[in-house]
Parts: sequence; C-alpha cells; structure tokens
Amino acid sequence: MNPRKILVTSALPYANGSIHLGHLVEYIQTDIWVRFQKMRGHECIYVCADDAHGTAIMLKAEQNGVSPEEQIATIKKEHEQDFAEFLIDFDNFHSTHSEENRELAEFIYQRLDENDHIASRYITQAYDPEKNLFLADRYIKGTCPKCKTEDQYGDNCESCGATYSPMDLVNPKSAISGATPIEKESEHLFFKLPEFSDFLKSWTRTGHLQTEMVNKLSEWLDTGLQEWDISRDAPYFGFEIPEHPNKYFYVWLDAPIGYIASFKNWCDKQGKNWKDYWLDDGKGDLNVNNGTELHHFIGKDIVNFHALFWPAMLHSAKFRTPTTVNVHGFLTINGKKMSKSRGTFINARSYLEHLNPEYLRYYFATKLTNSVDDLDLNLNDFIQRVNSDLVGKVVNIASRTAKFVQKSGGILSSTVEKPELWQQFVNASDIIANLYEQREFAKAMREIINLADAANEYIAAKEPWALAKQEGTEQQVLAICSLAINMFRVIITYLKPVLPELTQKAEVFLNEELSWKDVVKFKSKHSINTFKPLLNRIEQEQVDAMLESSKQTLEKSVEEKPAPGREPIADEISFNDFAKVDLRVAKIIQATYVEDAHKLLQLTLDLGGETRNVFSGIKSAYQPEELEGKLTIMVANLAPRKMKFGLSEGMVLAAGPGGKEIYLLEPDNGAQPGMRVM
Ligand code: MSP
Ligand code: ZN
Repeated sequence: MNPRKILVTSALPYANGSIHLGHLVEYIQTDIWVRFQKMRGHECIYVCADDAHGTAIMLKAEQNGVSPEEQIATIKKEHEQDFAEFLIDFDNFHSTHSEENRELAEFIYQRLDENDHIASRYITQAYDPEKNLFLADRYIKGTCPKCKTEDQYGDNCESCGATYSPMDLVNPKSAISGATPIEKESEHLFFKLPEFSDFLKSWTRTGHLQTEMVNKLSEWLDTGLQEWDISRDAPYFGFEIPEHPNKYFYVWLDAPIGYIASFKNWCDKQGKNWKDYWLDDGKGDLNVNNGTELHHFIGKDIVNFHALFWPAMLHSAKFRTPTTVNVHGFLTINGKKMSKSRGTFINARSYLEHLNPEYLRYYFATKLTNSVDDLDLNLNDFIQRVNSDLVGKVVNIASRTAKFVQKSGGILSSTVEKPELWQQFVNASDIIANLYEQREFAKAMREIINLADAANEYIAAKEPWALAKQEGTEQQVLAICSLAINMFRVIITYLKPVLPELTQKAEVFLNEELSWKDVVKFKSKHSINTFKPLLNRIEQEQVDAMLESSKQTLEKSVEEKPAPGREPIADEISFNDFAKVDLRVAKIIQATYVEDAHKLLQLTLDLGGETRNVFSGIKSAYQPEELEGKLTIMVANLAPRKMKFGLSEGMVLAAGPGGKEIYLLEPDNGAQPGMRVM
C-alpha cells in the first residue's frame, strides 16, 4: 500500500477565551484520527491556529486594557499549553493574524474579484454613536417587540422565539456603550455566493459530507443562497482590504484561509511546497489533488462556513476543495448544556489541575461516532467507564500475569497456548482499523474492550497463580502468561491513538515500540521489563474538586472584571430596590497583596467597630500602602462570597474603565466609619 498524503485541520479556536471541554471533543477526535493515520504509515499533517480577528477580540483587548496583539499573544500561549497537556499533537499551530494569512487572504480575494465574484453596495446598519462603531446584532439589546421581554439580543428573542432586525427592538441599546444606536449607511463588499449554487449542489452531494449534513444543506440550497457580506468597517481588528481603505475582511473570510496559512508556515520550515496540496491540479478529482487529501474537522455550528462559503471561495480562486468536512455534535455535561452556574462550564485548565487527560481522551473515544449527534459527558459514567475498562480490564491483564513471566526469566514463550483466541486478536486488526478510519471510535473501543474481556476470561479460567503453586508447571504457566502479555500488547497497540502516554509506559514494560503492522506477529523469545502500575483509578473526590475549582475560576473572572466605567447604564429599579442596598462609610485599616491573584488586593475595613475582610479588583491602580487610612464607601449587606483566596464580606465602590484607571470613591471630610450612605 502506498502511503497517503493527508492534511488534517481542526477548527481554529477564537483567541478571546479559554479552551473548555466542549472544544476538546473536536481536538481529541481529530488528534486520535491523525495519530491513527500516522501509525498506519501515512504522511499525515495536522495543522491549526488561533482565530485572532474580529470585534469580540478587539473589545476583549480593550476591556483588559491591552492591545489586540498582546491579547492574542497571551491567549495563544495559553491555548498551546492546554492542547499540549491534552496530548493534542499538532504539527503546526499558527495564528490568523500572521503575514502568511494576510498574503493568502489578499491573494484569494484578488482572484475572487478578478473572476467577478465580488459585488459592492451600500447597506444600512445599526451604529453606536458614542463608540463610533457599527454594531453586529449580538451587540444590541432591548425589549422584544413581540412579547415585551426585556434584555433581548438584536436578532431574536430567547423568550418567545421571534426574529427581527435590531432596530425593531423597543428601546434598543448598544451593549458596548449603552448608547441608543442610530442607523447609518456604508459600502460593503459581498461574495456572490448564488453564482455557486449549481457547483455547491453537486459538491455537497458527492461524498464529502455526512448524510445528515447533505440533507441539512439541501434545505438551504433549495431555498436559495444569499450574497455573503465579507467586509467590515473600521475600527476592526483584522486585515484591511486592498484598495478599500478603512474596510476590513470579515473574520470569517480570513479564518479558513488560516488553515492554508498554518500549513504554509509549516511547509516553509520543512522546505516543502504548500501549493502541491492547495492549488487545483486541474484533473477534476475533487477528493485527491496532486495525490493529496484534505480533511476538516468541525462542530455542527459552523457548517455553512465550511460546506458552502469555503468550497465556493476555493473553487472561484482555483484552489482545491476539501476531501471531507467531518462534523461532530456538541458536548453536554450530565445531560445538560455546559453551564456556568452549575459549575459544568469546565475549562481545560480546571480539568488538568485534577485529572489525567487520558481519562477524557478515552471517555470521548467511547462516545464519538461519525454522526453529528450531541455527546454527553456524564461524570458518574465517566468515573465508572474509565475505572472499569482501563484499570479493571486492560491494565489488569498485564498486572495479573507479568510477574509469572518475570519468575521464569522474563522471556516470552514461543508457544501460542490457545491459537484460536490469538487468532481472534489478529482478526480484529482490520476491523478496528476500519472503524478508526470511519471515525467510529465508540465502536472501535467496544471491539477493543471485547478483546480485553476475552483475555480476562482466559486468564481467570487458567488461574496461572494456582497452577504456579504446583510442581513442574513452569513452562505451562509461562505459556499462558506469554499469551496474556501478547494479548495485552495487541490491545495497547489498538488503543495507542487514544492513549499515547499510557502506551509509552507500556512500551517500556514490553520493551518494544508498538506499531500496527507488527501487532499480528506473536511476540516470542522476547524479554520484557518489570511491570509497573500504568494508570490510577479515578476517585470521586477528584471530580468534585474539579467542579469546585471550575466554579471558583468563574467567580474569580467575574470578580476580576474591571470596574464598570464603560458598561451600559443599567435598567431602572424602584426606590425600594435601591433602599435594600446598605452602603456605609468604611475605613481601610489594612491593604495587602494576595498571593497568585492578578487583580485583587485584600482589604481590612473598619465599619465603626466591626471589621470586614474584602477582596477588591483594584490592584492595577493602587499600591496597598497608599490605601491604608483612606475612607471609602462599601456595600455592607452583600452576601458573603467564598473565593479561592478566602471569604469576601462586601464590596468597595470604585469608578473607571479598569487597568490604571480605577478610582476609589471617597466621602467628603467629616464622614466617619460606619455612617450610612443615603
Ligand atoms: N473560530 C471559529 C472557527 C473558525 S474555523 C476556520 C470557532 N471557534 S470556537 O472557538 O467557537 O470553536 C472551535 C470549535 O470548537 C468549533 O468547531 C466548535 O464547533 C467547537 N465547539 C465549541 N463548543 C463546543 C461544544 N460545547 N461541544 C462540541 N464542540 C464545540 O467557531
Ligand atoms: Zn419575545
């Protein structure tokens, strides 16, 4: 078999937030598939990048008081660290904010333009007159025109499901400044998607997509495609469009081009040519171009970008189109959407602080199929599955039998003690390989665990530990245990794409690098090393601790939000509501740094006799010394909050946008600690 040349991508994570367990479904799925291909001897390159452009990232940087470049650099480090610890083995991880991507985006855009696939016209949009910014629908909030529920986004109502345009909202407000948006006209550039209707009808129906996706896309294709708005007005963090000053490529135009950019960046380092993979070889084979394949892995929320806009753009620009676009469903935790308040919005980091990443890789593998159905991480099932399958069944095979091989000199016997059982392990090779290839990981895991069951049944029936106590049975015991170790070896080989680290440890024990093609050869006359424990059981406490720390990380991020200087004016409240807030004059008697807290200072406040401990996010603006002795205003009846650093018993009041600009409120001369503010 000739090695295939395969390029694989996962969707590019946004550079405005942390990686969470939902994201990891995709990166783990892709990584397993890539490791499998590499193990089979194919040339398989796995690239990804941060998706660094757009309004959200620009605003996030502003909120953090840093430049967008600094913002994306910090996040990129964090993402790379998280991925590495989850054993996601990218060949390259780049950024869409890179020179390669700028050049490629301009190049592709120019080809679309030359081919007359770009239109331009004026459109009217909501505009924030204070921030001088056009507002996307999700940055406008107001009262639903239909059911009058307050605080709804600009495109649809979460309460009654009505859809509308943002200016139809009653009392619309910019979610960024609180200003009332106005309508404003500007010129936009559009990609003429409808011209690709026939191409897409054929492309989507010729084996590049799962059936469910073909059906979904048919609905869209049959109702007719719209031109796609690919420009945004300044201010925008992205690439300026050639010959259109102050207009930028919409983030989704240059995001998928980031796949090519990351690959080109890798090729440049390797002395290879990216064009072999990407430029259409003109032979009309939409699956293999210059002998190369291209596979994208994505979630179901971004299908239109990858299965409509992207192939159409590539086709217009005379690039090759994807061999497959593989769509997975969304992760739920304990049967529900991940939720901040339930503590199930779990970041990669919170998981890693408490649990071994291979547990999750295995659990996701037992859940992943090639369908777009959602998958559930049930935490009880997670503990049970991992402990029962990996510790109880797989590792157990070696831990029960290795010592008998050691006793007879540590060399595997050449007798195949039960040939039909061994044959079952050999036969499974093609079946399991096929399941991996089809992304049917759940079925592959079931086949593997069936093998482990068969191995354990065999060992239990033969009872080598009992046999070893009798005279003259040494060769027989060695033969039984050698077969057991060989079965273990096969199972670990089949699990290698899922559990690379466990495999490495097993390889030390087996004294051999495990490869798919050698797996079917019975290993005999081969010396193995002493068996050491390979994997610990998951304890309930670890999972509980992860949920707890996940809650605290989120509380901390709420607490550490900069002061509300630029937030919209809040909704009206009644006088009675206001009167419930007990504001008091407080004296700062002590202020100290908090270990490991980036934004907090710990304050001891005197309320005229009573003292309070409060954590306050004002470290960026004040030295502790300059605070001691100051009077300020505090919310004295705020429910105490347990934070990672201790209990916070109230809140001091400050104004400003954040960073160095935070100003503590001080009462006028004469005010005394404990006085009520009214
Ligand atoms: N930046 C875009 C992708 C650009 S690709 C040219 C994006 N980023 S994302 O960070 O929001 O999502 C990255 C990937 O993670 C997407 O494929 C998305 O579907 C997937 N997931 C995000 N949350 C998820 C779950 N809760 N469950 C499963 N996958 C999820 O979209
Ligand atoms: Zn409504």
